[in-house]
Amino acid sequence: MKVIVPPIKSQGIKTKLVPWIMQLAPKTKGKWVEPFLGTGVVAFNSFFEKAILNDTNPHIINFYKGIQNKVITPALMKNYLETEGALLSKADDNGYEHYRKIRSRFNEQFSPYDFIFLSRAGFNGMMRFGKKGNWNIPFCKKPERFSPAYVTKITNQVSSVSKIIKPEPDWLFYNKSFSEIIPLAGKDDIIYCDPPYYGRYVDYYNGWSEEDEQLLYNLLKETKAKFILSTWHHNDWRENEMINKLWNNFNIVTRDHFYHSGGNIENRRTIVEALVCNFDIENIESHNHGVKKHIIPELF
Ligand SMILES: C[S@@+](CC[C@H](N)C(=O)[O-])C[C@H]1O[C@@H](n2cnc3c(N)ncnc32)[C@H](O)[C@@H]1O
Repeated sequence: MKVIVPPIKSQGIKTKLVPWIMQLAPKTKGKWVEPFLGTGVVAFNSFFEKAILNDTNPHIINFYKGIQNKVITPALMKNYLETEGALLSKADDNGYEHYRKIRSRFNEQFSPYDFIFLSRAGFNGMMRFGKKGNWNIPFCKKPERFSPAYVTKITNQVSSVSKIIKPEPDWLFYNKSFSEIIPLAGKDDIIYCDPPYYGRYVDYYNGWSEEDEQLLYNLLKETKAKFILSTWHHNDWRENEMINKLWNNFNIVTRDHFYHSGGNIENRRTIVEALVCNFDIENIESHNHGVKKHIIPELF
């Protein structure tokens, strides 16, 4: 499966796990419902005609709504990145001066173009926000970041995504809490949930408590739709206590996954990822963690 990569980057992006998730997802006539959209990589590879997509992060939703309304186009993005990229390459302090300028401008005006600039010029492709919703990641320290090849790559990503996103009312974007979105799903729909991982990474838009996890469980237990939930199962240090407490009541498949970036050492190591679902799984191996790459290469 060739995975379509979106223009937004983040440390929790599921690009490498998309084929596994889509292998599990039942084919239905209904809608794709994704309450924790993030970069959108899973939704954009689901190829559903109808979708309900949501995130509490307003910058993500503004950006994709801008593409949907054709306010953001590949040509405008190319022009913007060429202009700002040239200024970055000439700026003082090895480019940092211009990065700071864009960051301050974004933190006042929240332009979706500046959002993409910061997402692509920030340290390690990370996305993190402070208490006021302000961008909180330092510069990647590459003043030549926006080379012609890189600008083309991002422009092509905007173009791919703009071909996939359908106009309203087929694709609906929301900026709400997941608890308002899950009840919108009916029996023919698929809900894919990728919430912040309990006990792991948090920032302003990613606070996640045990109460949140419990509420998510209650809503998914009630839903008539089919659901798939991404979570972590265990790593070398500890287990996700929510698996035993809640998610073991459903079906679970697991596999190893390596997250490339993250604030602390634990987040940079291999983790055993889990997919929890409320339907029978016949087409997928249930536990492959610890299985070496060369044995089932297509899974890695
Ligand atoms: C792990 S990320 C999703 C990553 C996504 N699957 C991807 O591949 O890019 C979790 C997302 O949930 C959002 N979020 C956090 N709390 C939320 C809530 N209460 N309701 C809805 N979205 C929330 C965050 O802003 C973040 O974008």
